[in-house]
Formats: sequence, structure tokens, C-alpha cells
Amino acid sequence: MVDSEQRGLDDVVIGSSAISRVDGEEGLLWYRGYSIQDVVTHLGYEGVVHLLLWGELGDRDPPEELVIRLGELRGLSGPEAAMVDAIPSNAPPMDALRAGLGGLGGRGFGYPPDETDVLVLVAVLPTILTRFWRRVRGLPIVAPDPKLDHVKNYLTMLHGEPPSARRTTALESYFDILADHGMNPSTFTLRLALSTNTTLLAAESAAMGTLQGPLHGGAMDRVITMLDTVGDLDRAPRIIREALDRKERLFGFGHRVYKVDDPRADLLREIASHSAEPKRFELARGVEEIALDELARRRPQQRLRTNVEFYAAVVLESAGIPPPLFVPTFALARSIGWGAHAIEQAATNRLMRPELEYSGKELREFPSRFPGRRTADRRA
Ligand code: ACO
Repeated sequence: MVDSEQRGLDDVVIGSSAISRVDGEEGLLWYRGYSIQDVVTHLGYEGVVHLLLWGELGDRDPPEELVIRLGELRGLSGPEAAMVDAIPSNAPPMDALRAGLGGLGGRGFGYPPDETDVLVLVAVLPTILTRFWRRVRGLPIVAPDPKLDHVKNYLTMLHGEPPSARRTTALESYFDILADHGMNPSTFTLRLALSTNTTLLAAESAAMGTLQGPLHGGAMDRVITMLDTVGDLDRAPRIIREALDRKERLFGFGHRVYKVDDPRADLLREIASHSAEPKRFELARGVEEIALDELARRRPQQRLRTNVEFYAAVVLESAGIPPPLFVPTFALARSIGWGAHAIEQAATNRLMRPELEYSGKELREFPSRFPGRRTADRRA
């Protein structure tokens, strides 16, 4: 009988990677040998793209050539834009992003993926997402500006005006911190898809579908719902206890790998303390403490800590990202991690094909009331 740990592929190592190191017992995250704390301190998003894709830092930050190249790759062709404009207005933005991604199929993505494939997707996803978001709201479309850096351009296309420095800094830090994270479920999906020698376009679409589940990237908007439901910190203990009594999960807590503090949660807490409204931050801090106490009391052996999603939600809100765009924004940040993994996977690829233990019926006779089409034809 296959046990729960096998079903969840706990601790199964399926290869090696030089991209990011995640250590759940030490609470470490490195990109290409640099700690996430150093990465956030020293690099903007283009610097992170350079590091993850090519394995080394650029000459300086931002890496000028890459900023220019990403800026040049942002546009959609007429038919690609028309495809985004044809997506039903009531589609969830993550589905719209995937549909718009499919519209890039005419660009001739092939196998193995190359650096241009990766950079095209990094560059163009914000254009697809903001075009859809503004169109369904009846707002004029804002064309990408090749002169702006990546995050500023995203916020400008989203809101139709240049973002404040506070919002840009908060969102850029978020992009840096979410850019890669080892063998998380969406990256696993991407590598599995790639192992069939499919295109980066197809594999990234599969990865996005995985990302949006609430046990992965889809937890963030639920964190905001929880904070809004609590409203006043005095109500938090009762609401949290009742949710746990109903066997609900508290979104933004627990992680398969981290059994100590998730370093990304620590960084995002610090960023939120500067970027969020003080009252909002205080509420989040209070809810976090109450939730951690309650989880530790009920499930001490599981070491459930704050995960990346809890303060990511607070930071995205403070950067002016509407909750329906939280998961798609995660996808924009993660697209460089997916791209780097795609190139690494293709370099040493072998088709991934696990097994399932058969637990169904023994072989049995077909009932006689189904004589069979071929037999019936022959009789006629
Ligand atoms: N709140 C309440 N109970 C929890 C939580 C939580 N946040 N996390 C785990 N548990 C409980 C589960 O209900 C389960 O209980 P049971 O044994 O009585 O059925 C038990 O702990 C084990 O749960 P698993 O899902 O097997 O544990 P795992 O370590 O694999 O879970 C996960 C990791 C899925 C992230 C989980 O902690 C969770 O559901 N958290 C809430 C959702 C969330 O925040 N997701 C974002 C993750 S970060 C990211 O992907 C970017």
C-alpha cells in the first residue's frame, strides 16, 4: 500500500539543479550561490533574470543590455493582441494569461528551449495580463514602454500612470524573492512537461495551471480574504479557532519543505512593514502571531510556520496589485525561474514516467448482456 509520504513524493530527489538551493531545516534560499537576502539587497529584477538565466551576475545592476533586450521584446503582434482581446471578460485573470500565452504559438517555439524563448515570455506576460485587465474594465490599453525597467513598466501598464517609488520598490522586491524556488509544484510540472520534448510555451502553460491551486500560489488572495474577514484583531482568535475546528487550512501557513522560518516570509514581513499601511501591517502581524500559536498548540509535531504567501499578499496589496491579479503576478515573477529550469532540464533530459501501483479489480469476465459490436455485426 502506498503511504501518504509516497503519494506526496516527500523527499524524492529527481535530479540535480544548479539554479536555487532550498534548505528547509536551515531556512535557506540561494540563487546560484547567492543568499536571497543578498539578492534582494543588491539586485533589481533584471539582475535576477541575468543571474538565474546565465548563472552569473551582470557587470553592474541593472544589467544594461538585458534591460534594453527585455524592453524590445514586450510588444504583441496584431493577431496576438486580437487573441487577448477575444478572451471572455469574465475569465479569471490566470486563465486569461494562459489563453494569451497560447496566442504566442505563431512565434515558432521549438525544442530545446533557448534564451530567447525564456526572455520573450518574461517580457511579454505583463503585456498580455494588463491588456486583458484594462480591456475588461473599459480602460484604455497602455502600450509597453521599452525605456522603463520591467517592474515599473508592469505597474505603469496596469494603472495607466507611473508608479510611486514605494510601490515599485515593494513589487520589485517581491519579484526578486519569488523568482525561483527549487522543485516547487509548478516547476516540477514544467520540468515534467519539458521531459516529453515539448516547447517552453506549452510547458509554462502547464506550470501556470499548477501554480494557481490554493495549496501553491493560489493562497495569497485567500490571505487577504482572511484579513478582511477578521477586520479587527480582537476577532482574530475566535475566527482562527473556528476555522481550524472546521478543519480548514489557514492560508499562508505551513510548507512541505520549510520546518523553520521560511526566509522569504521574513524578508516579505520586513518589506511589508515599510510598504503597507501601518494599520494593515499591524493587523497582519497580529493575525500571524495568533495563527502560529494556535497551529503550534494543535499540531506541534508539524512545525507549521508562516510561508511566503502570507506577507506576499500584504506586499502585493501595498504595491497596488488587485487580489485577482495576485496569482498572475506570481507567474510573471516566476517565469524566469521556469525558463532557467527549462534550459537546465533540456540539457540532461530523460522522459519522466513514474508508476502507479494498480489497486483495482482482478481481471473479470465481461457480462453476457453485452454481446459485443463485432459479434453483433457478424450475426447481421
Ligand atoms: N492550516 C491548517 N492545517 C494545516 C495547514 C494549515 N496551513 N498546513 C497543513 N495543515 C494540516 C493538514 O490539514 C493536514 O492535516 P491532517 O493530517 O489532519 O489531514 C496536515 O497538516 C498535513 O498536511 P499536508 O498537506 O500533508 O502537509 P504539507 O506539509 O504537505 O503541506 C501545504 C504543505 C500544502 C503548503 C500546507 O501547509 C497548506 O495547505 N497550507 C495552506 C495553503 C498555503 O498557504 N499554500 C501556500 C504554500 S507556499 C507556496 O506554494 C508558494
